[in-house]
Amino acid sequence: MSSLDLAKIRQDFPILHQQVHGKDLVYLDNAASSQKPVQVIDAISDYYRKDNANVHRGVHKLSQRATDAYEGSRSKVRGFLNAQSDKEIVFVRGATEAINLIAQSFVRPKLLAGDEILISHMEHHANIVPWQMLCEQTGAKLKVIPMTDVGELDLSTLDELLNERTKILAVGHVSNALGTINPIKEMIAKAHAKNIPVLIDGAQAVPHMVVDVQDLDCDFYVFSGHKMFAPTGIGALYGKQALLEDMPPWQGGGDMILSVSFEHTQYNELPYKFEAGTPHIAGAIGLGAAIDYMQDLGIAKIAQHEHDLLGAATEKVSAMDGVRIIGTAKDKASVLSFMIEGVHPHDVGTIFDQEGVAIRTGHHCAQPIMQFYGIPATARASFAFYNTMEEVDALVTSIKKVQELFA
Ligand code: ALA
Repeated sequence: MSSLDLAKIRQDFPILHQQVHGKDLVYLDNAASSQKPVQVIDAISDYYRKDNANVHRGVHKLSQRATDAYEGSRSKVRGFLNAQSDKEIVFVRGATEAINLIAQSFVRPKLLAGDEILISHMEHHANIVPWQMLCEQTGAKLKVIPMTDVGELDLSTLDELLNERTKILAVGHVSNALGTINPIKEMIAKAHAKNIPVLIDGAQAVPHMVVDVQDLDCDFYVFSGHKMFAPTGIGALYGKQALLEDMPPWQGGGDMILSVSFEHTQYNELPYKFEAGTPHIAGAIGLGAAIDYMQDLGIAKIAQHEHDLLGAATEKVSAMDGVRIIGTAKDKASVLSFMIEGVHPHDVGTIFDQEGVAIRTGHHCAQPIMQFYGIPATARASFAFYNTMEEVDALVTSIKKVQELFA
């Protein structure tokens, strides 16, 4: 029995109350993008209706209100991650942009040909491709922590992989394709013992669990807003202040400067040094509202409810003949990836859609994981706190429907 009041919570999500192909919508594609509560939608709408103006620029009232709301959201992100200072929180478009920023501004200036960047086999493309691009630009090498059949990282070689040539360890907190929760605290400690900085891609973690960057002691932590009930196009980069201070700006433009002449530009202080151009003000305000919403519910309660949903789904699907779960790690969050014998995952997704059940099918922007298992794609159900046990049953019923149609 969940300690969350699901009936009340679901009232906050207008989009959930609709029919798709004549069936009640069951939204199980939260790892791709989550839905937004009215509190977030209203915060964005109120900003445009009442406070819309540019930030950090105007002496007029609207600009002051917009600035207060924007900076207020930065403080909320700081609290959400338990960072020490607002200066450590940079608003970005999302996790992808944050990783590109760290690759180009933090790692590139210190990288020599032959240096190494360490990632893992279960990264999202966003935590692979920026590093590959960097390797092409500098002659550095990409190294990969292997994974095991159950979908856990094989850390037996980690000590060897972390060596004097390693310039950063960049690893996902939770795998978007498998749901595996990686032992990042232990990995961070191992990297730090050799003075290697660590970036954590938290895109799939922040919607589901308490994250404390001081306790983890990571150097950088990045996430996207849209997977945690906030709008698309906004996310945050946490970085330790001393590291951010030392980094050159990534993009040049307005707001990241103190003074400009043709001879010299003096850059703004943190975090503005990394926020060139007019930011996504409404997005940041929506992100702040999403954090308020999650904290009001209680993130520990969210985690417990989702754990129960995933546990029930895993038990029921494991018991079905002809269904294989991809990714059976001991510690998982939200994600159930599966294959139905004899049916391509895209057909699974299409039949699910006819049942009103939204899941994602494909490689989930994590093709190396698919290559590891020798499969082209999986079907993936991913849970959020507004999902119910009845929706777990709808997942099971839809699998049966697929099996009947393909019998
Ligand atoms: N990264 C997103 C997903 O896992 C798009 O679906």
